[in-house]
Amino acid sequence: MRVLGIESSCDETAAALVTDTGEVLADVVASQIATHSPYGGIVPELASRAHMQAVIPVIREAIEKAPGGLSGVDAIAVTQGPGLVGSLLVGVQVAKALAWSLDKPLVGVNHLDGHLFAIYLRRPDQVSQEGPSMPYVGLLVSGGHTALYRVEGFDDIVLLAQTRDDAAGEAFDKAAKLLGLGYPGGPLIDRLAAKGDAAAISFPMPMASRKTLEFSFSGLKTALARHVQTRGAPVDETELADLCASFQAVIVESLVRKSLLACEQEGLDQLVITGGVAANRGLRARAKEACEERGFRLFVPPPISCTDNAAMIAMAATRRLASGERDELSFAVYSRDPDRKRGKFRRDGTLVARKPDVQ
Ligand code: KG4
Ligand code: ZN
Repeated sequence: MRVLGIESSCDETAAALVTDTGEVLADVVASQIATHSPYGGIVPELASRAHMQAVIPVIREAIEKAPGGLSGVDAIAVTQGPGLVGSLLVGVQVAKALAWSLDKPLVGVNHLDGHLFAIYLRRPDQVSQEGPSMPYVGLLVSGGHTALYRVEGFDDIVLLAQTRDDAAGEAFDKAAKLLGLGYPGGPLIDRLAAKGDAAAISFPMPMASRKTLEFSFSGLKTALARHVQTRGAPVDETELADLCASFQAVIVESLVRKSLLACEQEGLDQLVITGGVAANRGLRARAKEACEERGFRLFVPPPISCTDNAAMIAMAATRRLASGERDELSFAVYSRDPDRKRGKFRRDGTLVARKPDVQ
């Protein structure tokens, strides 16, 4: 079975063709970085308009890249939410029109599921690595989300904890804006941090208690702002690199510590790190080192599968489509995750449910 995936939840318009075993046949991503970078962040209205322009050319390119073209498509998967509503609507409406005209099944996919299951994609140039067996602990770390999950199955994902305020990617982006580096901040800080000394400046470790799995990054952002206010902006490349390395190191350490704690608490020895920030070289290296020390198995998708893409959306849909499911063509989009089971586990493994988020 071949699934056409479509993704337009944020600032990337993407289309991909993926088989039901996760083989990526085509993967096209049109980035809107140039559109948003003058503003230091995403402007929703501009994002919707850019998706409108890009969506058909991107789908056409994906289809033309895969043998068999449109006639080889057996089903369609599209990001239904969470995300920017105006952006989501563009991908969803095109997906519905295609499914209707081709008379193919269509399913709406939760964007966060896409990130969590990107680990099962197999790209042509990828060194073959077996994916994790379920259950595993998933750290999803992106521009909009920072959360830990217990992943039991394709439709059985339990949120263990999340950030109380900013997502890690958001912290990178806001820090870069403050330092006048540009947008998106993550890759820029990543590059500078590689040349800097992480011990140069000591920033406070957020949520340092051993007991909680929750994250918090807004205090760190304030600490950076205060540092720049009192000491002045970095005067040269070395000072800037040191500042970036010190800032990044705290985010990385917090992400790695909480992930290891989640593995311990859940009694699981497999950790998947995914989402845009999982492309960070500092995070990848530190997580590898920490997992090796503990004897945990670490799985991180290649950077191209970590940042937003449509192959992961197709991948997340394969199980539902293979079992013959399809959504009604009248389905709606959602800006916030409506039905993720929220809760935490007691020591005996039973789930303490929390109130769902109010929409
Ligand atoms: O997953 P993603 O593409 O979109 C969301 O679903 O949010 O993640 C985008 C986020 C941005 O905040 C970006 O700065 C961050 O991922 N990011 C990185 C790196 N590459 C992207 N953060 C740190 N280091 C990177 N190399
Ligand atoms: Zn994402």
